[in-house]
Order: sequence, then structure tokens, then C-alpha cells
Amino acid sequence: MHEKLHKLLIRRAMIIPTSEIYNPVAGFYDYGPIAVNIKRKVVDLWRQIFIEKDGFLEIDGATVLQEIALKASGHVDNFNDPMTECQKCHKRFRVDHLVEDALGIDASHMSISELGKVIAEKNVICPSCGAKLGQVKPFNLMFETQIGPVDGITAYLRPETAQNIFMNFNKIFNAFGAKLPMGIGQVGRAYRNEISPRQSLIRVREFHQMELEYFFDPEEDDSIMLEKAKNVQVPMQTRQMQREGKSFALVTLGDAYKEGYIPAKTMAYFMAKERELLNALGIRDFRIRHLMEDETPHYSGGNFDVEIATKFGWVEVMSLAYRTNYDLVRHSKFSGKNLQVTVNDKKVMPHVIEPSIGLGRLLWCVLEHAYVEDKERGWDWLNLPPKIAPYDICVLPLMKNSDLVRKAKEICDNLKPLLDVSYEQSGSIGKRYAKADEIGVPYCATVDYQTLEDNTVTIRFRNDGKQIRIPIGNLAENIRRWKLNGIVEASKSGYELLH
Ligand code: GAP
Repeated sequence: MHEKLHKLLIRRAMIIPTSEIYNPVAGFYDYGPIAVNIKRKVVDLWRQIFIEKDGFLEIDGATVLQEIALKASGHVDNFNDPMTECQKCHKRFRVDHLVEDALGIDASHMSISELGKVIAEKNVICPSCGAKLGQVKPFNLMFETQIGPVDGITAYLRPETAQNIFMNFNKIFNAFGAKLPMGIGQVGRAYRNEISPRQSLIRVREFHQMELEYFFDPEEDDSIMLEKAKNVQVPMQTRQMQREGKSFALVTLGDAYKEGYIPAKTMAYFMAKERELLNALGIRDFRIRHLMEDETPHYSGGNFDVEIATKFGWVEVMSLAYRTNYDLVRHSKFSGKNLQVTVNDKKVMPHVIEPSIGLGRLLWCVLEHAYVEDKERGWDWLNLPPKIAPYDICVLPLMKNSDLVRKAKEICDNLKPLLDVSYEQSGSIGKRYAKADEIGVPYCATVDYQTLEDNTVTIRFRNDGKQIRIPIGNLAENIRRWKLNGIVEASKSGYELLH
């Protein structure tokens, strides 16, 4: 765990355990104002890269789904984790995690019976009271509810955003040009009643997903997709490397396809997109892992996880799945409505490739990668790319003098329609720089007595702490340009340094 980061997030109210005043239940966090700003900008970047660039579509579906929809998707019967209960204190545990913590082995691929055997043979006991553990049983991760007052309809909070897209596909297809391929995305909440939520934002019970379902005709040539991505290099962990205990090798997506690591050309295209998003967010330390045979659903045409290096180890943040036509076929069967579409007089049950991203996990990784421990400066700070910084600029009057405060507020008001602006007037100027730095604000504008005379301010850049002096009239345009080009050092601003 990156304790310092977690403490920062709590101290600046970036995340707050939900209903904290009542002794909170694990696995739920509210996002405070600073984190909301960062989250919104991460979503905007995802939208640009995964939706807008390709002219794809976006929906916003309801989060309560009736039982039959989730019977069709397989979640009612199969969305389980292995659970055991302590026979004395009755605490419940997720068994694969328990075995991993107790024995230091990878238990993620073990079946319920294998886990039961390991517990018995290795004498794994309750980590809380030391007593014997009960039988290992499957535990369904969905939150169940009833719709309506009496004898309601059984329903569940959706465990993934994807199902709304499958159920709506046919309608949207016909309303939006009736052509394949078609991409439909969604950003929204998903819920999983995790047995043991842990690791801050990494494993929670309510979270956001950003998912895209790309529908296509498998008989159509998709070479163009590989063509666009073939020179992009990614760190890939093949199945063979996993068997040999190797972490990853750098490979171009063209070669990875040729070598047979990637089963579909279109998957290479979305791997390139995943890399593009990670790079835009400042994350370079990741790998694309080919899921092993026993981790891959029976209907899948291939599954990959994007894992990011963190202090928790490698964390799965994105998944890329070739879901074939499984979901549309299942929803056709359970609804009694044929979800095939007609394209150029041909009936097609489209296949689907799905890049899926957990927003909270991604956010944690972005913050962890941006975290700079800085003994020299005397405070730690976030080296966030300016595009996702919570505020573009912080405006500060040098002192609480009423003329300076009035001028600083006037500057803020003028900038607000154009930029995300914060304002700080309490504490020493050094403390205020530190406060801005630790949440990753890239630029601070200080209003001093010279400002009142010549309408210039000093701009301090987050990364080198150096300053320049510029006219107020040039502020918005410069900040916009620096932000666009990722300039976070005064020495690269194009202006003369003050000191
Ligand atoms: N529609 C496919 C799907 O839901 P998944 O691998 O189960 O696939 C996708 O979930 C992403 O959602 C994961 O890669 C992860 O980032 C995020 N996620 C899943 N469970 C989570 C949890 N309990 N807490 C936070 N994020 C989670």
C-alpha cells in the first residue's frame, strides 16, 4: 500500500469513506471536490480516445437490472468468489486471497475444491481469531434487491455496465445508421459485493467502469484495424512467459499478431488505444497480460488484462475481451427477441470486442505514478499531466491586503469561464504553493504590489518551482498552450526566468 498517497487522499478529502460519521462499511468511498475534477478529466480523455476519435456512440443506462437480464448474462449463476467462514468468530473471507496472504502462493486460478484442499492440508486458519475455517463455498457477488413495494420483482445492481449496451444494441443499431462496425460505450457505476474489499480504491463494492463494446461482422476483413496499430510497441506478457515466470517483453502489435499472441486484428487496435490512454495519463509502467487458458471464459475468442505496476504489485486495471456473439445470443434466447441485425441484406449476429476499464483503479494508479517524494522541496507533490490536474491554475494574493485580494479575485473571475481555477489566500505563500503542488496544480499565479501597477503576475511552475512574470492579458492563452503541450517547468515556458 502507498500509505503516503492514501493519507494524502484522506487528508485533502479527495476520498472519504462513505457515511464515515456512522463508522463506515468497507468498500465504499465518496469522492471529494478535488478527486471529482481529476476523475472528470480522466473520463474526458477516455471519451476522446475511445469514443470521439472513431465516431462511436455513448449511452447512460440504469443501474438496477431485472433478474432475467442477469440470468442471460450468466451473472446470477456464475458470478461467484470462493468464500469461507470462521467456525468460531464467524468472520467471512475470500479464500483465494486468504491462501495467498497465508502461504504466499498464487491462488487466483484455483477451483473451489482445490482451495478447500489447500486450506485443510496446509492448515490455514482464521487470520482474525486463529480458529478453524469452514467449508469453501461460492458466494455470488451481486447486490440483490426487489423492485416495487410488495412481492416485488427480483433485481440486482448491475455488476458491469456492459449488459445495458448488449440489451440496447439492436435499438441503437437501427436508430444510428444500421452499419457495422459500431462502437457503443458507457461510463457508469457497477456494484460488486466483494467479500473482502481492500487496497484503498483497488477493490471496492461500488465503482465506475468505462466500457466500450465494439460490434462487428466477423466475416468482414478487419486488416485496417491492425494496419493502424501495427507499429505501436507495447509491453506484453504472453502465456509462455507466464509459464516461465517472465514479466513481459516489448513487442510491436504487428509482430504480436504475426506471432499469434493476439487472436484478432481488432484487438491489436484496442491495445494501441489502451496504451494511448495510459501514456496520456502519465503511466508507462504497465504490461498487457494474455489470460491463461483456465482464466478465459469458454465462449471467449481471447482475453487480455492491462496490469499496472503499483506498490500493491501488478494490478489489473483494464481488460480486453473478445466476447464473440455470446451476449447477443444469450439475450436473444432469454428475451425471445432475435437480436441479429441486417446489413446489406445479410443477417448478422455481430461479434463483440470489449475494452473495459475500472475508473477508480485507474485513478489510484495515475495518482501513485504521479506521486513525487521530495525531501529537497520539503513536501511531496503530484506530477499530474496538466490535462488531468484538478485545477489549471491557483491564484494567490501575496498578502491578505484588501487591494491584492480584490485584484486576485477579479483575475479569478475573468479566468473561470476559460480555465479551472482555484483561489488560496490563507497561510504563508510557501504553504500555499505546497498545498497546490500536493494535489498536482501545475501553475500558481501570484498577485503582488507590482500587479497593481503594471497588470502583470508571477507564474510559478509546479515541476521546477521557478517563476516568470507575464501580463494578465496573456494568462489564459499561455496556460492553455502550456497545458496542451504538457509544459510544467518555467524553464520551458518561453519566458525569461525571474530567479
Ligand atoms: N465487462 C467486463 C468486466 O466487467 P472485469 O474484468 O470484471 O470485466 C473490468 O472488470 C474492470 O473493472 C477491471 O479491470 C477493474 O479495473 C474494474 N473492477 C472490477 N472489480 C472491481 C472492484 N471490486 N473494485 C474496483 N474496480 C473493479
